[in-house]
Amino acid sequence: MSKPRLEGKVALITGSASGIGEEAVRLFAENGAFVVAADVQDELGQQVVASIGTEKVCYHHCDVRDEKQVEETVSYSLEKFGRIDVLFSNAGVIGPVSGILEFDLTGFDNTMATNVRGVAATIKHAARAMVDRNIRGSIICTTSVASLLGGTAPHAYTISKHALVGLVRTACSELGAYGIRVNCISPFGVATPLACTAYNLRPDEVEATSCSTANLKGIVLKAKHIAEAALFLASDESAYISGHNLAVDGGFTAVKHIFSA
Ligand SMILES: NC(=O)c1ccc[n+]([C@@H]2O[C@H](COP(=O)([O-])OP(=O)(O)OC[C@H]3O[C@@H](n4cnc5c(N)ncnc54)[C@H](O)[C@@H]3O)[C@@H](O)[C@H]2O)c1
Repeated sequence: MSKPRLEGKVALITGSASGIGEEAVRLFAENGAFVVAADVQDELGQQVVASIGTEKVCYHHCDVRDEKQVEETVSYSLEKFGRIDVLFSNAGVIGPVSGILEFDLTGFDNTMATNVRGVAATIKHAARAMVDRNIRGSIICTTSVASLLGGTAPHAYTISKHALVGLVRTACSELGAYGIRVNCISPFGVATPLACTAYNLRPDEVEATSCSTANLKGIVLKAKHIAEAALFLASDESAYISGHNLAVDGGFTAVKHIFSA
């Protein structure tokens, strides 16, 4: 039998109470990792952890907008499991859905505080813990197809996800010296509360939109597909991959048909 892909590794996952983060907690645990699941939705987060039912997975409150809470969550992970090998910095918000002519700058600040500043705080503190312990860790952030194209998501969100790719590249440029890899994943539309709430759509409507606009046909994008990409980037199978923005989008950002076949 082959060994579990994350055997013995410790992972900290933010935005873990729901959607993509929740799937990642389950998948990482199934693959042998010790997991600290962090979120602001404490009740949901506790339920996720309880449903997995192992002492190798625990929940910790963390609002990534507050650097003190991030630092404290990293300290908690170290106390609990002794190290951090993987950071999946996945927490994010869609932010205001206003047009640029009526741009909601307060909502924009909150989006940047969560999607960019919050991720920077998690990278800062988790990477320090890795560097201090000589751990050749893996840092993965969740960006979006909105990091690659305009017009696929609200303005504040698109700006934040473009900035996040810059954060990943610049962190990668420094942390490579310590053997730490930094990558991001750009999902297409997944039927999570974030996507459903933003567009006021039912899960099946989000899925139908993704199916009809992706290039790849015959498959419905699920949160599990994104978690599987994160598992790959967390594992030693991606040992030489760093600074990459992995689109999990069924070819959406690669193809635009101008002639029909
Ligand atoms: N669903 C999609 O279509 C889609 C597409 C591309 C990228 N993404 C990205 O995927 C990531 C996960 O989103 P999801 O789709 O699973 O949505 P989701 O709403 O199911 O999960 C997001 C989680 O982040 C948590 N969160 C929000 N603000 C936080 C904060 N300040 N501190 C800590 N946790 C916080 C929420 O409580 C929630 O549990 C986000 O970064 C999102 O931008 C989602």
